[in-house]
Amino acid sequence: MAQLIDGKAVAREIREQVRNEAAEFHARHGRAPGLATVLVGSDPASATYVRSKRRACAEVGIASFPFELPEETTMRELLGLVDELNRREDVHGILVQLPLPSHLSAQTVIAALDPRKDVDGLHPVNQGKLLQGVPGLRPCTPLGVMELLARTGVPLAGAPAVVVGRSTLVGKPTALLLLECHATVTLCHSRTRDLASVVRSAEVLVVAAGRPGLVRGDWVRTGAVVIDVGINRLPSGELIGDVDFHTASARAAWITPVPGGVGPMTVAMLLRNTVQAARWIVEGQA
Ligand code: GUN
Repeated sequence: MAQLIDGKAVAREIREQVRNEAAEFHARHGRAPGLATVLVGSDPASATYVRSKRRACAEVGIASFPFELPEETTMRELLGLVDELNRREDVHGILVQLPLPSHLSAQTVIAALDPRKDVDGLHPVNQGKLLQGVPGLRPCTPLGVMELLARTGVPLAGAPAVVVGRSTLVGKPTALLLLECHATVTLCHSRTRDLASVVRSAEVLVVAAGRPGLVRGDWVRTGAVVIDVGINRLPSGELIGDVDFHTASARAAWITPVPGGVGPMTVAMLLRNTVQAARWIVEGQA
């Protein structure tokens, strides 16, 4: 039976560290690290996520600057706000919650961010730094995945690692971070032939496909570490991952639960990135 990787507990520990680092920053520079959150429109899931990010900021001593814009906001208006936030000295991180309403281009908005304030790690400059393996802001969910892997103590160097899902937000950056740790990485997606047999080769398995129960227990190699990034709400209201937890946990050595695995880590890493951005901006290096 697999050991559970308790994302809630790890996230709590990281938030505690960030609280100390934010206090230290405040003491040294006379102001708290600041995060601006931008929510456009009224998507209820996005509103919930943004609210939890704002609450988390308050708990660790990061100043939160909330912006809520109506659905009909134009690109010009949104780019105007980004420009203003780029210039503000009390704002060290800018988070534009995705997805944006369909008439707005997320790519254009992200490219307009000051890369030093791109705490989501999605700006082309930060993605380029990730590809090159030089320091920069990394996307939050992949950082959370790596932190959970580190907590298992399982060595990544040389290990066969399989990532299922090639999104810009999770799959691709996670594959690069695993590569940076010297894993032997296979990146799978919806067109991968015989996904089951590729997944069976994984000592380290990260699933971020957005398809409930996609990975069945008999696909999981005995003794593998399984990180399930999926959060899917069933019609019954139940939240389940992309991995069939019950059958997979019978074979894995370590597995994340859903909820309570990767989910809480994303916000914790956003807070860590905000303090990192503040330090790099104020103390140099970025
Ligand atoms: N929407 C879903 N996940 C994320 C995330 O990590 N960052 C942003 N900005 N939007 C999201």
